[in-house]
Formats: sequence, C-alpha cells, structure tokens
Amino acid sequence: MMEKRPPILQDFLDQLYDALQSSPGLPEAGRCIDRVFTALVDYRGPGQNTPGRLPACAHLAPALDNARLSHRALADSFAALEPHLTWTKRAQSHPTASANFVDGHANALIVGPGAYEGRDDVWVGVSLLAPHVRYPDHNHGPEETYLALSEGKFQHGEEDWYAPGIGGKFYNTPNIRHAMASGDKPFFAIWCLPVGERPPVTLPKFKQFDNVRYRGPTWLSYDLRAGDGGAILEVYGDGYYEVQFDYPGGLTNKTVDAFPEEQLEKLSG
Ligand SMILES: [Fe+2]
Repeated sequence: MMEKRPPILQDFLDQLYDALQSSPGLPEAGRCIDRVFTALVDYRGPGQNTPGRLPACAHLAPALDNARLSHRALADSFAALEPHLTWTKRAQSHPTASANFVDGHANALIVGPGAYEGRDDVWVGVSLLAPHVRYPDHNHGPEETYLALSEGKFQHGEEDWYAPGIGGKFYNTPNIRHAMASGDKPFFAIWCLPVGERPPVTLPKFKQFDNVRYRGPTWLSYDLRAGDGGAILEVYGDGYYEVQFDYPGGLTNKTVDAFPEEQLEKLSG
C-alpha cells in the first residue's frame, strides 16, 4: 500500500504540468515532459531531506513576485512548497561561470535522490540566480526541459544565447553542454529530467565505487551511494582522491577516501 503524495507537492506538480502544457510547443520537450509526468503518477515516498535556505534565497521573493504576474498559481504553489526544500549550491566555480556565481546561486531538488520526494527515476528542481550571474557550463546524461519563470537566457551546444521569456521552455538533449544566465533581475527556472530507473553516468567509468565516502562540506542535498560511478581526477597520494560525479546541477568534485589498494591498481590500469 503506497501512501499518498503530500497535497502541497501534488499541487505544485499539477501547476507545473499545466504551465508546461500551455507553454509554446517544442516537440522534443513534449516527449521529455511526458516521460517525467508519466513516471510521476506514482508517489515514491519522502526523501528525508533537511530543509534549509542559502543567502542567495534572498532573491526568491522578488523572483516569485515577477513570476506571479503571468503564473500566479504555479508561483504560489512553489512558495507553499519551498519551506520543505533543501537549497544547495555548487561548491566550486568554473572558468565559464561569472565571478559572483558561487554565492549568487541556489538550487533545490524537489523530486529526486534525497529530495522532498525521494526517487532516482525522475528529477524535478529549481535554479535561482542573483542578477548578473552566469551559471557554469555543465552537462548530464538525462535529457532535460527547463521552464523559465523569469527573464534570463539559456545556451547549449554551439548555439547562441536564447531568451525563452517567462513561461517559455528550453530543451537539452542528453549530454549537451548548457548554461544559463540572469540579466538585471533574479533568474528563476524549474527543470525536470526523466532519468529512468537506473541513472546513466556520463563520465568515463573507471569502476563502480563501493563504500565511497567523501570529506568536506556536505553541501549536496543527498549523499553519494555505494555503487555510484565517478571519474578520478587526482590521486593525492595520502589515501584521498578527487573524484567527479554526476548530479542534477551538473558535475561536482569530491574528495573521497576508502579505496582498497587492489581497486586502485585497476583504476590506474
Ligand atoms: Fe542542466
């Protein structure tokens, strides 16, 4: 017997679906959205996240006020849900990001690993940027559809920057490099990814790590799990390794330990 999805989340998902359907058509995005919402018919239970905000969340209220002008029901349903969410940020900047990026952004995973609804097969989340922030280039295995709820622009592959406008969509094919940026107002967008039952790992897989533990700030909203795949970037020689993993906001580097020696030989081979 499956418990029911909390109404506060179901209402947000219903409003998101309506907004995506009434957004100007993009056939590939339509199929992506169908995959997401077909999977979301089933509720998978709470993800045991610990709600928390970041300093960049100061930009949320003006962003939602702006979105309410055209998307009142969706913005209100997100505002009601938001106290249950865990806001996170990428720990490092990236050469393609603006200098104000790290403290000028916040992401929240709503549905996904360790999110408010915990599951691996679908990710739904939001990104918030302060004014004049450029998010770093990133890519991931699952295809992805963004719903823009603010002014702002998106870029992917070799194409020019594109401003879908409030209520417009932006679709990313699997693994395409992409980014987004705010103008002189806060940027707010909702994203959804149909991951499938086994999340694909796009990085070269040197091995499957068992018992991976990571050190440093636990700014991710979920823990890496035994069996998560990553790529070793650097061997520090003192028992620690920098490993790059996939996560919904792009790629992240973690310092990990607990690699048995015999596994390390396979890694370097
Ligand atoms: Fe993305």
